[in-house]
Amino acid sequence: MTAIAADLDALVHSAEGAFSAAATPAELENAKAQFLGKSGSVTALMRGMAQLAPEEKKTRGAAINQAKQAIEAALNARRQALKDAELERQLQAEALDVTLPGRRQSSGSLHPVSLAWERIERIFASMGFDVASGPEIESDWFSFTALNNPPNHPARSMQDTFYVDMQGEDGQPYCLRPHTSPMQIRYASAHARTHAAALARGEVPEVRVIAPGRTYRVDNDATHSPMFHQVEGLWLGENVSFKDLKVTYLNFCRDFFETDRLQLRFRPSYFPFTEPSAEIDIQFQEGPLAGKWLEVSGCGQVHPNVVTNMGLDPERYIGFAFGSGIDRLAMLRYGVSDLRLFFEGDVRFLAQFA
Ligand code: DAH
Repeated sequence: MTAIAADLDALVHSAEGAFSAAATPAELENAKAQFLGKSGSVTALMRGMAQLAPEEKKTRGAAINQAKQAIEAALNARRQALKDAELERQLQAEALDVTLPGRRQSSGSLHPVSLAWERIERIFASMGFDVASGPEIESDWFSFTALNNPPNHPARSMQDTFYVDMQGEDGQPYCLRPHTSPMQIRYASAHARTHAAALARGEVPEVRVIAPGRTYRVDNDATHSPMFHQVEGLWLGENVSFKDLKVTYLNFCRDFFETDRLQLRFRPSYFPFTEPSAEIDIQFQEGPLAGKWLEVSGCGQVHPNVVTNMGLDPERYIGFAFGSGIDRLAMLRYGVSDLRLFFEGDVRFLAQFA
């Protein structure tokens, strides 16, 4: 084993020092160049050997080689150390604290108006009513004329309608339907077409349907919104009377509000499509609203002109219709006093119905 000359020993030491002072791979590569690069110290020593005698060359050469290997070993050790440190740093930075509580995904819930809507459908379906829906952009014919409310009739001013800049094929004006009553005509005339054969045989297949949906009027305050919800009801047959209306609506209200301590009253009113016409008021015998009469619906016996416009014979078909505000029913059921809360979309309000 060749002894390492003092100058080589010092060189190895100084390389080791320079390498361990390098804090990054780039600094380390710079330090390497000082020793092992083309103009580095080790390379200079190798070149200096040319002047030596052959015997000296051998020992000196071996010693330089040994020093070179020591320097390379120090370099590789430092490279590895820097790599390890970088990996450690990354692991630290990306560390997951598995003990942290997870972030919950909050789940949505149905809107109170949707809850009321679904409840209404369920209750009437249980009483044998079909559930129908139809267009919100509606023709003048279905909205008014077919409902015994011809152009220029003063009853048209009962509703502040949004007219749409559009005409049907028949040249008729269209509007955003101001009530769900057009569905009476649409549903019953489809019924008349599908039962044409039975009707021709003199049978009287019943019409029993509700039609919930969105409706529109030029209105905006604490109890009126330009877009609101109604549910239309229609029951026609050979012998369907006001008595059936009262029983049906009372059962509906008791089921909807989940109380038998509730009364109904009919107050005379006017609608072009019914004769006689009435408003339905309800009164709770218990709870925060106890004792007050609250208006919930318009109703009446379907006018013979309307039955005719359905394609049915008013001599054979008689019955009732009603139109109730779904928002109003929801407000009463959930104790909400300002209708606008339903349409603001504030989750603090809506979350209460989850
Ligand atoms: N369509 C009426 C309105 O929007 C409500 C109504 C009243 C509907 C009497 C009916 C009815 O079916 O018979 O104010």
